[in-house]
Amino acid sequence: MLHKILLYKKQNTITTMLKKYILLCNFLLAASALLAQSTEPIVIETKTTALVLKTGAKQKLFQAYFGPKLADYKAASTTHQAYIPAGGDDLFEPAIQVTHADGNPSLYLQFESTKKETVGNVTHTSITLKDPQYPVEVTLHYKAYYNEDVITGWTEIVHHEAQPITLTNIASNMLHFNAAQYWLTQFHGDWAQEQKMVNAQLTSGIKVLDTKLTTRSQMYQSPFFMVSLNKSSTENEGEVLMGTLAWSGNFRFAFEVDNDNALRIISGINPFASAYTLVPNQSFTSPEFIFTYSTAGRGQGSRNMHNWARKYGIADGEKPRLTLLNNWETTLFDFTQQQLDSLIGSTATLGLDVFLLDDGWFGNKYPRNNDKSALGDWQLNKTKLPGGISHLVSEAKNRGVKFGIWVEPEMVSPKSVLYETHPDWVAKLPNREEVYYRNQLVLDLSNPAVQEHVFHVLDDILTQNPGLAFFKWDCNAVIYNAWSPYEKYKSNFFIDYVKGLYKVMDRVTAKYPHLNMMLCSGGGSRLDYGALKHFTEFWASDNTDGLERVYMQWGYSHFYPANAIAAHVTSWGKQSLKFRTDVAMMDKLGYDINVSHFTPDELNFTKEAVSTYKRLSGVISQGDLYRLVSPYEQNRAVLMYASADKKSAVLFSYTLNLRFHEDVVPVVLQGLDEHKTYKLTEVNLYPGIEPSKLNGKTYSGEFLMKAGLPLSSLTPLSSAVFELTAVD
Ligand code: DGJ
Repeated sequence: MLHKILLYKKQNTITTMLKKYILLCNFLLAASALLAQSTEPIVIETKTTALVLKTGAKQKLFQAYFGPKLADYKAASTTHQAYIPAGGDDLFEPAIQVTHADGNPSLYLQFESTKKETVGNVTHTSITLKDPQYPVEVTLHYKAYYNEDVITGWTEIVHHEAQPITLTNIASNMLHFNAAQYWLTQFHGDWAQEQKMVNAQLTSGIKVLDTKLTTRSQMYQSPFFMVSLNKSSTENEGEVLMGTLAWSGNFRFAFEVDNDNALRIISGINPFASAYTLVPNQSFTSPEFIFTYSTAGRGQGSRNMHNWARKYGIADGEKPRLTLLNNWETTLFDFTQQQLDSLIGSTATLGLDVFLLDDGWFGNKYPRNNDKSALGDWQLNKTKLPGGISHLVSEAKNRGVKFGIWVEPEMVSPKSVLYETHPDWVAKLPNREEVYYRNQLVLDLSNPAVQEHVFHVLDDILTQNPGLAFFKWDCNAVIYNAWSPYEKYKSNFFIDYVKGLYKVMDRVTAKYPHLNMMLCSGGGSRLDYGALKHFTEFWASDNTDGLERVYMQWGYSHFYPANAIAAHVTSWGKQSLKFRTDVAMMDKLGYDINVSHFTPDELNFTKEAVSTYKRLSGVISQGDLYRLVSPYEQNRAVLMYASADKKSAVLFSYTLNLRFHEDVVPVVLQGLDEHKTYKLTEVNLYPGIEPSKLNGKTYSGEFLMKAGLPLSSLTPLSSAVFELTAVD
């Protein structure tokens, strides 16, 4: 009996346990369904900004809010679908367009799950959306950089259909705004005319900023923009979104104002000629869209970008930079070893860190004596440089400086051994005439064999010359007649080119993590944060005319910190050496000038300027930038950098060409401590020229930031640089 009772009890316990288990399972299932249908907002927050997403009707994901951080987001609406797929019920510009294996050209996206992970300052939120009918999964990623007030967004797509699907378009990010007005500031130009800023109101319809040039992609349009909400923002006022795409290829920003005056901004790879075939079970990741939102004007937005870039966006962004003397403007292709030895001597005389040997050092069968040959043949030209690179490296070492070298590894000259041996590596259309840009063609970097070749261009030079300290990585051609002999799916080429390029850059950086490298593309045609994480600086323009540079560097400063913007003193421009030096010094100072032509005064001035720059470069590179007077608004430009502890600052003032009796009001400084007293010391004084009346004076921070300083002289194309030091 007892046995039966025990057995009964045991069975009963098992049944109860089973029941409990089933109940628990049901509960978990219900809970997960609940979670999937959750209307709880997904909050992506930085120090001052919030982006809030929420599921709504039909399990769609909506952008419920974007703006200044709020205490709660309960009232946030679900009007704008966060990431709009084509083929559904929204007939404005989509974020994504997919054609399934069966030819169905629509995608429906329903909320599936979300994940959040915080590591220190950075919170990564991912939201997975699924198509209810097709096995396609889209994950929206957002990284919030709390202290810097920067968010990055990108998209990942994977599918499990039986055959490949086609991604006609896959944006990195989509944002929605509801404001009375929208003002777009774009940055555009051409060779030697980089970063022209234009501000215009967006009206109903679509405005597109894009490029189709692939390699030298940013020659006409820069990969960044600002959108002011309600009214045009100024340096210190207004709501402004500032965004840039980390992609060294074809990008596209679409700004569409719809029938309700709502604005959607779609940022990503340019879908032009890029329908991407995605095979089953492989994922496709879009580049990052990096954005910041400021309610205190563009100045704050730029400081956010700079803080982010130095920490996360550029290689060794918080470390000191090497100063350079480059030979390009002095010699072009025409140099001898003896001349280079003498330039290495000039590098040492000026107190610079590196001598950078530019184009023209390679090719033997077809020597590189002009731009018509030898790209691809990265062997040292024995006639020009009989001692080899090792001679130059050791000559530099003897003079106490370092040696750096120029390469253009993605390119090939039709007159080269590489072209003769590997015609299949060249990206060009069959059955069509070759079309050259600067007499050259581009290698097909979607091909792993080409990636291997490009990696070895750099790796071989570095392995053979371990003392080599610097690379300038140039890229002078666009891709005409684009076609990959390698790709199975031909229209994947534009995208796979850039992915191949990044594979090479990743490899170089993995092997040489602290290599100083300058990103260059026939001036500043490649300067995006996709590449810049591997580079310590970029070549801003071949145009180094001091006056032009005031505008150009002003433009660049909106998105890049000073230590990334290579600015060299050359013999371009009719301004004084002092003016050109003062302009170059607002960013990363360097030289590309024939020092042997300097007068004794010029030489002394330059030596002093280099040492001053080295002393002040901590504040210039790492300090907070305040643009005080815009050259776009007045015939002068004034800006300053202030250290985080507000103990020191550097102030740059340029008089461009004041009109007769033009009103020049005092310039009110920013970023200082009202309660501190600052001494002004004028630096970069040219021998024999009287310093400004402000030199040596002290002022309270309050005075400087409320009353301001009479800064500009009346002399056209004159300039002054002041060091401000807190004295109490
Ligand atoms: C274009 C670059 O912008 C120049 O600085 C120089 O490196 C030339 N290429 C060399 O060909």
